[in-house]
Amino acid sequence: MRIPVLTIDGPSGAGKGTVSRLVAKKLGWHYLDSGSLYRSLAIALQKKSVDIENATEIVKVAQAMVLEFECGDELTVKLNGENITNKLGLESTGSIASQIAALPEIRQVLLQKQQDFKQLPGLVADGRDMGTVVFPDAENKVFLTASAEKRAERRYKQLKEKEIDANLAKIKNEIEVRDRRDMDREAAPLAMANDALYIDSSDMSINAVIEEVLNLIR
Ligand code: DC
Repeated sequence: MRIPVLTIDGPSGAGKGTVSRLVAKKLGWHYLDSGSLYRSLAIALQKKSVDIENATEIVKVAQAMVLEFECGDELTVKLNGENITNKLGLESTGSIASQIAALPEIRQVLLQKQQDFKQLPGLVADGRDMGTVVFPDAENKVFLTASAEKRAERRYKQLKEKEIDANLAKIKNEIEVRDRRDMDREAAPLAMANDALYIDSSDMSINAVIEEVLNLIR
């Protein structure tokens, strides 16, 4: 039986996570936050003090890690039985994730783990290469982006709401560094699939984006 897949790719902070989670909830489909696999691996490496340029060791850690996901209002992730949710969203974790994501052998180990999420009644998958590499046959693909200024402003607001100290210029710089690394790497770079719907959310509300995505599915 054919399992429907919706892929949502784009740069960090474009709203992919929120949109994907809510669309998955509306459709009653499974949800894959592929970035959380790279982020979980980054945390596993920190715990074991593995050098992030040592691909051989990283592959071993990636093969051995056991991840459990629970998708409620927020995504809860357990790494080898330990809840790592509160470390997952840190920019330091995202930066290591982006660096190890450039290694082709690491992407290869995580490929099957991501494809295993494709189960009935359907899957919403968010990331950088969902529509191009992991699920190239998906019938519905979206490329969701926004200007670096808007993405930085949203991130800044989120942190302030959580009463976390933040600096807007620093956040914008981190976003641009990560965008460049994710787009310029040779292995499965951040790119729009030819058959994807392009959405620029700079001046759109989350609800408007969700409506546009749901229209595509309908
Ligand atoms: O989506 P995110 O910010 O949680 O992803 C963290 C990093 O992981 C991102 O900067 C690059 C990498 N990543 C990737 O290379 N491919 C994916 N499909 C998802 C994330």
